[in-house]
Amino acid sequence: KIQKIKAREILDSRGNPTVEAEITLADGSIARGISPSGASTGEKEAVELRDNDPKRYKGKGVEIAVGGLNKEVNDTISGNEFESQEAFDKKLIELDGTPNKSRLGANALLAASIAFARVSATSNQIPLYRQLIARDEYLLPVPCMNVINGGHHADNNVDFQEFMIAPHNAPTFKESIRMGEEVFHSLKSLLGKKGYATAVGDEGGFAPNLRSNEEAIEVIMEAIIQAGYEPGNDISICLDPAASELWKDGKYSLFKSTGQHYTSDELIELWSSWIDKYPIISLEDGLGENDWKGWRSLTEKLGNRIELVGDDIFCTNPAIVQEGISAGIANSVLIKLNQIGTVWETLQAVELAQKNNYNCFISHRSGETEDTTIADLVVATNAGHIKTGSGCRSERVAKFNQLLRIEEELCIKGRFAGKSTFKGFK
Ligand code: PGA
Ligand code: ZN
Repeated sequence: KIQKIKAREILDSRGNPTVEAEITLADGSIARGISPSGASTGEKEAVELRDNDPKRYKGKGVEIAVGGLNKEVNDTISGNEFESQEAFDKKLIELDGTPNKSRLGANALLAASIAFARVSATSNQIPLYRQLIARDEYLLPVPCMNVINGGHHADNNVDFQEFMIAPHNAPTFKESIRMGEEVFHSLKSLLGKKGYATAVGDEGGFAPNLRSNEEAIEVIMEAIIQAGYEPGNDISICLDPAASELWKDGKYSLFKSTGQHYTSDELIELWSSWIDKYPIISLEDGLGENDWKGWRSLTEKLGNRIELVGDDIFCTNPAIVQEGISAGIANSVLIKLNQIGTVWETLQAVELAQKNNYNCFISHRSGETEDTTIADLVVATNAGHIKTGSGCRSERVAKFNQLLRIEEELCIKGRFAGKSTFKGFK
C-alpha cells in the first residue's frame, strides 16, 4: 500500500533541472526514480513539462511537474494499493488524461513510474530486473559505447551524432567492458597524438574537430587495433547519425562540416558504402523520422545485412512501433523510457517488437542522472544490447557498474549476449 509520493527538482548531467520522485509504502519501503532528458528528441515523444519561467533555469525549471506529483498524484495514489506496474501506470495515464502526457508531464510520470517499480522490488526483496520481468535466465548486454560524439551532443564539426564500439567477442559483460575501456583509452592517446582535442561531449565520447565524418570511423578502427583487438571479430561499430536533425527542405544536410546535401537515396548509398568498408553492425536513425518512404527503401536495401534501429521514428510508442512493423520499417526499436513516459508502456513496446522479431536496443538519454533503471531494464527484457555512453562520466558508467553487479549476482543464471544478439548475425 502506498503511503505517499514526494517529488523534487534535482539536476541532470547537463546541469538542467529534472524530476525525482520518491515513493514510500506502508511497510516502510522507500525508493526513488529520476527522469532523464534528451537533446535530439523525436517529434512524437511524450511531452517533457518545463516551467517556461525565464527567471529560473532559463525556463527549464520543473516545479510545475514536481507540484503535480506532490499534490494531484499524491492525493490520488496515497492510501491505495496497486497490484501491478500496469495498474499503477494506467492510473497515472488516466489522471494525466492527454494522449502525450502533456498535462502532468512525462518527466513527472516517468519518475513516479520508476519509483513504483523500484519500491515494489524493495518491498518484494528482489532485484529490479526481476521485478520488471521474472525469468529463469537473463542475458547480459553488449555495451555499445559511444566513443565519438557529434551532432547535437558536441560543438565540434562532426555531423553524425554517435560513433559507438560494440565489444562483443567476450565471455562476460565484465570482460566486454574491459575491452571497450581499453579501446576508449587507446582512442584518447591516438587523438592526442594526432593533435586533436580529447575533451568529451554530453555522452562522454571524445568530441574532436575532424577532417571528415568518416575520419571518426577510421580513428576508431585504428584504436581498436592499437588496443590489440580485431575489428569485426572482436569489436564492431554501431552508428547513430540521428538523421532527423540533418533533415531540411526534403534533404539531408551536413550543417556542421561541409554543408553538402544528400537525398534519401544518396544517404542510403553512403551508409551502404560504409557498411562495405567497415565492420558496422548497427545503424540507428540512418534517415529522418518523417522520411517513411526512405526508411522503407533503407530497410529493403540493408535490413538483411545489419541491424536498422528506429529511434525518432518510433519514439518507444507501441502504436507507432506497430505502424512501423506493418510498413516494414527497420528491424529494431530503440527503447527510451522517457519517450513514452511509463515503465509499463515501455515494456509493452519491447514485447510488441520482440513478438514481431524486431530487436530492442535499450538506451539512455544525452541528459542523464545517477538513476540506473535502464541497466535493469536491458537485463529484464533480454534485449542483449544497451547504449549508455562511452567509457567515462559517472552518469554513464553508473549503468555499467550496475550491470557488473547484476552479472555477479546472476552468476550462472546470466549469459553474455555477444555478437549474435545483433540482427544480421542470427
Ligand atoms: P538524445 O540522444 O537523448 O539527445 O535524444 C540520444 C539518441 O538520439 O539516441
Ligand atoms: Zn538516436
